[in-house]
Amino acid sequence: MKLSFLPHSRQSVPPEPGAAPRVRRLRDLPGPPQWPVVGNALQVQLSKVHQNVEAWVKRYGPMIHVRLGGFPLLVVSDHEVIASLLRDRPEGFRRPSRMQEIMAEMGIQDGVFVAEGEHWAKQRRMVMASFAPGQVRAYLPALLKVAGRLRDRFELAAQQGQAIDLQADLMRFTVDAISGLAFGMDVNTIESDDDVIQRHLDQIFPTIWRRSHAIVRYWKWFKLPRDRRLDRSVKAVNVAIRGFMAQARVRLQDPARRAAPHNLLEAMIVAADEPGSGMSDDDVVGNVFTMLLAGEDTTATSLSWMIYLMSRNPHTLQRARQEVDSCLGDLNNWTADDLGRLDYLEACIHESMRIKPVGPFNVVQALKDTVVGDVQIRAGTSVVMVMRHDTLSDDTFPQAQRFMPERWLDEATQLAPHHAKRVSMPFGAGPRICPGRYLALLEIKLVAAMLLQHFDIVSVDTPDGRDADEHMALTMVPVGLKMRIRRITA
Ligand code: HEM
Repeated sequence: MKLSFLPHSRQSVPPEPGAAPRVRRLRDLPGPPQWPVVGNALQVQLSKVHQNVEAWVKRYGPMIHVRLGGFPLLVVSDHEVIASLLRDRPEGFRRPSRMQEIMAEMGIQDGVFVAEGEHWAKQRRMVMASFAPGQVRAYLPALLKVAGRLRDRFELAAQQGQAIDLQADLMRFTVDAISGLAFGMDVNTIESDDDVIQRHLDQIFPTIWRRSHAIVRYWKWFKLPRDRRLDRSVKAVNVAIRGFMAQARVRLQDPARRAAPHNLLEAMIVAADEPGSGMSDDDVVGNVFTMLLAGEDTTATSLSWMIYLMSRNPHTLQRARQEVDSCLGDLNNWTADDLGRLDYLEACIHESMRIKPVGPFNVVQALKDTVVGDVQIRAGTSVVMVMRHDTLSDDTFPQAQRFMPERWLDEATQLAPHHAKRVSMPFGAGPRICPGRYLALLEIKLVAAMLLQHFDIVSVDTPDGRDADEHMALTMVPVGLKMRIRRITA
C-alpha cells in the first residue's frame, strides 16, 4: 500500500525489507474518550473549538481520532503532514462538502473558495488574474485614500480622548478597502457609519459559521425570522453585484480600460471574457461575493492581533516606528516600493500570524480511500489540520510563546528554522493558498504604518485586564480590544 503522505521524519521504524509498511486504522488512534452516540460533540464549545482541538493534540499526540455524532474525524498537527494534505488538492482532497451545500442553500453562487475540481481550476485562473502583482499595485491609490480617512477618524478619537473599538474600526477600513477594490465603489463606512451592502454581509458571515456546525438543519424545512432576513440579505447583495457588473461592462467598452482594469470586478470580467475561460457572469458574481466575505474579517482581525501583540511588546513598536519614519514620507505619496522596504514591520506581521493565526485550523475531506501519515482513512473522511501546534513548539521556534519579530529577519539568530514559512502557514499552502495574501499584507502594512507615523499607542486594553480572549467564528477574533492613542506632535 502506498504511504502517500508519510514525511521522512515520521518513518522512525523502517519496515523490514519486503514487508508491507505498517498502517493504522483511524479508530485505533488515541484521542479523547468518546461518549455513546454523540462521540466528542458535547466536549467542544463552538467559540473555543480551536482551543479544544489544540488541547487534544497536545495531550494525545500528532494524529488523533475524534468523532462528532456519526462523523469520524482525523485530527493532525504535524506541519509536514498538513502541507502534504494542502498540496494534494483538488485531486486527493477537497474543502468540506458541507460548506458548499450551505452556501448553495443560502443562494450564494459558487466562488473559488467552495468550488471544486475543474470548475475550481477555471475560477482560480480568473481570480488570480485580478490579484496579479501589477494589478494589486494599481489598487494602492484607492487604499491610501481609505487609510487617510482612518487616520482622520483616529485623530478625532485622540483629540476627544476616546477609546477606539479596535476590531470595529479596522473592519471599517477593510470593508471600505474591499468594496472599493471589488467594484470600484466608494463605500466610506469610516465616515458615514453605515453601508447597505455591509449590513447585509453582517448577517451572512455568522450564518455560514452557525449553519456549518448545526446539528439539526431545520432551515431546510421551516424558516425562522432570522432565516428570512438572511434570504433577503443574500438576494440584496446578489442584485447589487449584478448592478455593478452591468455598469462595469459599460465602462469596459473602452479598450484602454479593458487593457488596464481598475478593480477586481473589471479584472475578473476581462479574464472571464478571454476565449476558452469557461467562465460565466454567474461565476464572476460568485467570486465578487467571495472576495467580500473572504477579505474583510481576515485582514481586520490579523491587524487587531498584531497591534495588540506589539502594544504588549513596546520595543517592537519603537523599532517599527523608526523604520516607518526612515522609509516613508507623506501618506498620500507612499508607493508599493516604499512599503516593500518595511522589513521589520513585515516581520511583525509574520510573527503575529504565527502566534495568532485567524484560521487556527483548516479542514479537508478525502476524495478517495487513502493514507495520511500512517493512518488509513476512507473517502469522505474529514481531516482537521491544527495550524497552531508546531508553530508554538519550542523545538521549532525557540521561546515560541514570545513575540519576537526579529526571528523572521536573520537566520543567524536561529530563532526560527530556515523553513519557518513552511511551518507557519497562516494563508494555507499548495494550489489553494490564499490568493488575497499580497493584498492583505499591503493593507496591514498600510494601516500599521499610518498608525505608527501619526500616533503613540497609549494602551490596548482587554475587558477584564487579562490576556485577550480568542473567540472563534469562522475567524479567530480577539474579544473587546479598546485602543487609546495620542497624536504625535512634530
Ligand atoms: C490576513 C488576511 C487573510 C488571511 C489570514 C487569509 C487566510 C486564508 C486561508 C487560511 C485560506 C485557506 C487556504 C488553504 O486552504 O490552503 C484562504 C483562502 C482564500 N482567501 Fe484568504 N486570507 C486573508 C485575506 C484574504 C483577502 C484580502 C482575500 C480577497 C480579497 C482573500 C481571499 C481568499 C480566497 C478567494 C480563498 C480561497 C482560495 C481557493 O480556495 O482557491 N483572503 N485565505
